[in-house]
Amino acid sequence: LLKRRWAHWTNLEGIKGMKITFLKRLLHEGETKEYKHFVPFFEVIKTRQKQAKQSILVQVQSKKSYKELETYCSQYGAIKEMFHYKAGKEPLHFILVEFQKEASVMKVLRDCEHIQDSQIVPVESTFLWFRASKNNSVKKQTSQLVLTIENGNCPLSEENLRSKLQACDSISEQIEILYESTKLNDLGVRLRFLSARQIEVALSGIFPSAVAFPFGSCVNGFGKMNCDLDVVLRLTKDKISDGNRLIYHCKASGTSERLTSQRHMETIGDFIHLFLPGCSQVRKILQARVPIIKYYQQLTDVECDLSMGNMSGVYMSDLLHIWGSTDARVRPLVFVVRKWAEEVGLTNNFPGRWITNFSLTLMVLAFLQKPKNSPPILPSLNTLVKLAGSNDKYITEDGTDCSFLRDIRKLKFKAENNEDLESLLIQFFEYYSTFEFDKKAICLNQATPITKPEHNSLYIVNPLERGLNVSKNVSPEELERLRLEMRNALWAIQLKEKKADGWGILSLFENRGRQFPSILSNIPVKSHHTRLMEISKLFEEEHLDMVPKETES
Ligand code: CTP
Ligand code: MG
Repeated sequence: LLKRRWAHWTNLEGIKGMKITFLKRLLHEGETKEYKHFVPFFEVIKTRQKQAKQSILVQVQSKKSYKELETYCSQYGAIKEMFHYKAGKEPLHFILVEFQKEASVMKVLRDCEHIQDSQIVPVESTFLWFRASKNNSVKKQTSQLVLTIENGNCPLSEENLRSKLQACDSISEQIEILYESTKLNDLGVRLRFLSARQIEVALSGIFPSAVAFPFGSCVNGFGKMNCDLDVVLRLTKDKISDGNRLIYHCKASGTSERLTSQRHMETIGDFIHLFLPGCSQVRKILQARVPIIKYYQQLTDVECDLSMGNMSGVYMSDLLHIWGSTDARVRPLVFVVRKWAEEVGLTNNFPGRWITNFSLTLMVLAFLQKPKNSPPILPSLNTLVKLAGSNDKYITEDGTDCSFLRDIRKLKFKAENNEDLESLLIQFFEYYSTFEFDKKAICLNQATPITKPEHNSLYIVNPLERGLNVSKNVSPEELERLRLEMRNALWAIQLKEKKADGWGILSLFENRGRQFPSILSNIPVKSHHTRLMEISKLFEEEHLDMVPKETES
């Protein structure tokens, strides 16, 4: 409870400059060394999926409607929690209601109606609207339940974040505050699981066992408020044959597996576009190595990337969840590096020839496996593989072995590194400013760089699919910009002077918008944003993680 309250407080304005170090210690003492509070990834997923099954999302007139809504919903079963947020430009108000039991949701849905309009597609889902009562004598509201969070989907404004950071006493404290103030909150995670659940429920008629697994930053612990939802849809559960004699009749496709999968994705994309409430801006990117459907779920205010079949992204999220939980400094450090990269224009929301957040995250993790001049903070993947038990065996559909220790409470790794976040950040910039990118590949499997297997400007070995380069998309110009910005950052952060207009990590963010990505520099006219969109579209249509020759020219 204390932890949750704390997460809430740190999002509130007016607590600027409050010393969090003491409270953080109070909450985390002993946690990272003995991993007392570690919850394995698939247990977290299970809990979140259960929450989503027990929840409905209701559009209301304003947050004040929650009492009336609670009184109304209580007739269907006991309510556990209610969360309020706003979405859209107008904005619209929503309340997420979590019941104690899934059966209550079923009862609610049994009584729900559609509005009388021949234009609507009469879909049934857990996304509802609470219309005003025709009956003036509304039932007396007796409840004591309070909203767990109000306006809970709103990231801290840049201005407030800046003044919070400005008021800190040390760079390490700034990094912690940045992490605590910008990380995805509990409601954000719930909304992403509800968005995934919408797909499962919609397909449940013909695929009753379908599961939509959220993965990526919204579940691996590296997500910030407003991060996208990456979700992989599996139409059936893995089931080992136990000798049943009755087998389903199914359709078999005559064409190649890839073509079939593209056709299926196309159909599901149309289905989302035509039938699912709140889903708009559907785009199908079917030529990519991993075909995806992108859409915006406006009721939950979440950008979604849906793929099908392959679980490797989910297992990767599990691995990142483990590394992120191994030491309390890992996530804050990743956050500050990602924020810096965004501010200086190294990353942006569109795919292209620039580095991605995922690649940056792996760079930080690789550095923490081997910080300059100090003991490692993270174990290598090979160490986790060696410690894997029989319950840790996971193999993807295409045969990739993703077995590694899933429960770090069994980890014998002792981090003897006591460096603070400030010195780790400086060491990170030092490490990569002098890294031999032309000869070496970053490799988290053995915690040490290896000779580059192929000539790509930046090579980060995909830890789970070792034949792939995670950063294959990065052009030589973008790598050069990365290196240059790292040197600038190193210089800026070492100026310890307390400036009134931004000191410490704020001085890293000063270069905002200084340079356009180099690939854009030769393209005339138009705004930066429009040009990025054009390039990204070209890029998406070809390969998400490969550099198409046409784009280059
Ligand atoms: N992924 C992967 N290999 C890649 C790219 C992505 O395995 N070459 C997986 C990772 O698990 C990653 C997830 O796909 O976390 C989602 O990718 P993406 O959305 O690009 O990155 P996130 O980590 O979710 O970061 P962001 O907050 O920017 O969305
Ligand atoms: Mg993502």
